Amino acid sequence: MPEIKLTDEQIHGVDMAKKMSSFKRSALAGTGKTMTLAEIARGLKKKKGLYLSFNKGIAVEAQKRFSGTNCTTRTFHSLAFDGFGKKYGSRLNQRLNVGFIRERFGVGGDHAYLVSGMALDSLGKFLRTIDDEVGPEHSVWPDACKTIFAWKPDVTKFEVDQRQSRIENDMQRKVCFQIQSEALPLAQKIYNEMRRPTSDFPVTHDLYLREFVASMPDLSSSRFGYEYILFDEAQDADHLMLMLTTAQSLPVFYVGDAHQQIYSWRGAENAMASLDLPETPLTTSFRFGQAVADDANEVLAALGSKYLLNVLPSKRSRVERSADVPPGTRAVISRTNGQVVSATLDGLKEGIRVGVSGLRGIKSFLRDYRSTEAGRPSGQFALFQSVNDLMEHAQTESGSDLKTWLDLVGQYGADVLETAMGQARDLDQDKDVWKSCQRVAITAHAGKGMEFDSVHLSDGLFNPKRLKGDEEKRLLYVAKTRAMRVLSQGKSFVEVTQGEA
Ligand SMILES: Nc1ncnc2c1ncn2[C@@H]1O[C@H](COP(=O)(O)OP(=O)(O)OP(=O)(O)O)[C@@H](O)[C@H]1O
Ligand SMILES: [Mg+2]
Repeated sequence: MPEIKLTDEQIHGVDMAKKMSSFKRSALAGTGKTMTLAEIARGLKKKKGLYLSFNKGIAVEAQKRFSGTNCTTRTFHSLAFDGFGKKYGSRLNQRLNVGFIRERFGVGGDHAYLVSGMALDSLGKFLRTIDDEVGPEHSVWPDACKTIFAWKPDVTKFEVDQRQSRIENDMQRKVCFQIQSEALPLAQKIYNEMRRPTSDFPVTHDLYLREFVASMPDLSSSRFGYEYILFDEAQDADHLMLMLTTAQSLPVFYVGDAHQQIYSWRGAENAMASLDLPETPLTTSFRFGQAVADDANEVLAALGSKYLLNVLPSKRSRVERSADVPPGTRAVISRTNGQVVSATLDGLKEGIRVGVSGLRGIKSFLRDYRSTEAGRPSGQFALFQSVNDLMEHAQTESGSDLKTWLDLVGQYGADVLETAMGQARDLDQDKDVWKSCQRVAITAHAGKGMEFDSVHLSDGLFNPKRLKGDEEKRLLYVAKTRAMRVLSQGKSFVEVTQGEA
């Protein structure tokens, strides 16, 4: 590996950190944000640091960069787990679902499904705050209501239709508010049940993270002993995570890129914008050459970015057009878990060693799905009655990840998938697995913060309808900027969004 000479901007960041006062650094992909954090840890020598991320993959990857420093890499949840999560034991392993909620709390009436679904989704939002009670501000509306609320009478062109639809919409609005008035108290009841120590009621991981943050932990106390905090990918921090870091007396160094914010659906707040801290810039991207930068800049321009990627003239890269994964490709980046599994199957057919992120979840899904299919729901689906119940739950926001799984099982069958996943390697296990695989199959979400010599983007990232939204554009920008030397893809962003594909 060539020796790295820090730029003046990067040195400035390391020097600022030595003064032990918090700052934020907002910069585009590959400009050395994470590397500068590792240099800060090196520069602060014996001081005990904490590198925080909210995603297991990022924490595992970061171990490599921080080896030899006195800085520990942890996820927020793992930090909270010992003191607050452990006590919930096996209550953490079961998925809550609409059918179970309906039965347990005796939810009836025509809208029982929507009421239970809204209660679960709103509870999820509430758990990412430290508010005392569930209230209207935590409402996560069912899709049906979102469509109705988005209706604006002023913009409708056809007056006759307008009058008719206004009446219909007024009625539907009333129904939505009725659903809300039942869903929020139900969310509160679910929360109370989760918190009851003697209950066997399932608990979600966000519950103990919330309890941890609400306990106002002092990360500098002898229990933790940290002297500074490094917060990577801060553009995706949610309210709870920011509450934890901003309450500390320790210096916190935040780095992030607003254009890589890909968790706003989950309540992420762009810490880079909201924190009132001194800013230190970074302007040159070191990861790739001009070709990859030009390609990614098309997306940045569509996002209205003030800045475009700048690269070193000496850096070489190329963008290839290919619908299939070119031989020798190091990483296949997909939109959904389902596409990750397809990419894994393709790689295994080629006879190469494939690493997958989130493999534990994939395997446990398949195991639990099979027993549910056989009429013995267990594990995470212990509270479901049947595969139909799973399908129903997949229609809610909190069950949306199930949908890709169910499609996948429908396409390949659980047997084929289970055999293939048995041959794949688990990238979340430890950093050495990354080295021992010839190819990694990951989602763009899991690939955040990482880089690979050659990257192939699956077609799923180029859905023209989805790319109308900014979050999806940001996800594509994240995916493209993982490539160091070769970026291959079947389509280009401009073709797809301008409808020329
Ligand atoms: N001064 C430098 N000289 C040479 N290479 C560098 C320099 N700074 C960073 N790099 C390299 O550039 C690449 C990108 O760095 P890094 O991953 O830290 O960027 P980042 O800003 O964190 O990216 P992302 O936004 O994707 O998280 C890494 O391979 C890193 O080693
Ligand atoms: Mg980074």
